Amino acid sequence: MKPQMEVSLAGITLQNPVIAASGTFAYGVEFASVLEMDSLGGFVVKGLSAKPMDGNKPPRIWEAHGGMINSIGLQNIGVREFVRTKLPGLQWLKKAKVFANVFGFAMEDYEEVIAVLEDAEGIAAYELNVSCPNTKHGGIAFSSDPKMLSEVVELCRKRAKRRPIIVKLSPNVARIEPLAKAAEEAGADALSLVNTFVSLAVDARTRKPRIGAGFGGLSGPAIKPIALRLVYEAWKAVKIPVIGLGGIANGEDAAEFLVAGATAVEVGTASFWDPQATSRIASELAAFCRAEKIGAVRELTGTLRWPS
Ligand SMILES: Cc1cc2nc3c(=O)[nH]c(=O)nc-3n(C[C@H](O)[C@H](O)[C@H](O)COP(=O)(O)O)c2cc1C
Repeated sequence: MKPQMEVSLAGITLQNPVIAASGTFAYGVEFASVLEMDSLGGFVVKGLSAKPMDGNKPPRIWEAHGGMINSIGLQNIGVREFVRTKLPGLQWLKKAKVFANVFGFAMEDYEEVIAVLEDAEGIAAYELNVSCPNTKHGGIAFSSDPKMLSEVVELCRKRAKRRPIIVKLSPNVARIEPLAKAAEEAGADALSLVNTFVSLAVDARTRKPRIGAGFGGLSGPAIKPIALRLVYEAWKAVKIPVIGLGGIANGEDAAEFLVAGATAVEVGTASFWDPQATSRIASELAAFCRAEKIGAVRELTGTLRWPS
């Protein structure tokens, strides 16, 4: 029996719940010769800002045990260049959904990026990266303060007339529930979590950080158990759908996130060692459902049997 792999999320139907994560799948077009793009549930393009950004000084990546630390510094070509040169190369897609990851350092930046994207075709939804510092408010990350998070989500919700908004939460907080709720109350259509964990790699010989900018964000299998906990807590706190990510490397990892409450999953770092990881994981998840005699993948969502 072939399991039903379709899921629906904030009014969008995905042919399967596996999406490539932002920052690990370029602008999508670059992967067209690497894997069967239309076999994916979708993909999130690299974070887009109002103006192009050069990113941080190197080294930007360090391989850690079970993962990697990065501080790319949000390098990107800017939203206008994306719409002009990259998005046209994605219009042929029939099944995979394109998600635009949006960020800024002030409320108006988010507003500007969404305003440009609203006039473009071929995008299913916006994913707001709120892990950036708000430079007008002492550099505190939007995602760390429920009030600031609520303001930015409300503003984007007003601006985005054509498409749903997914709010991507940072794991670098003491409690995720207040932030998940703040995003929901401000009008988020879905949540995605987690972004990377702030971390430090040290070279004891040179006494310097391994990353040019100092701190970096940890991702990959090392973070999976913490990401699962956060996804479970967020899912329990809200009614909107949750997209789970953090260290997913195979189909069974994806199934674990669904059981913990996710409606769909994203795959990031795994694409660095296996560029076909996203499509492989979608096939492995289907095989898992077949082996476990699960008729529809959506039946897995939120089925964790918590010890009583
Ligand atoms: C090199 C790199 C660049 C990233 N860039 C972005 C980005 O631009 N926007 C964003 O929201 N997340 C970005 N992320 C975070 C990932 O999308 C994802 O949330 C995180 O890596 C956890 O998932 P993983 O363990 O499967 O990689 C980036 C991650 C990596 C490794």
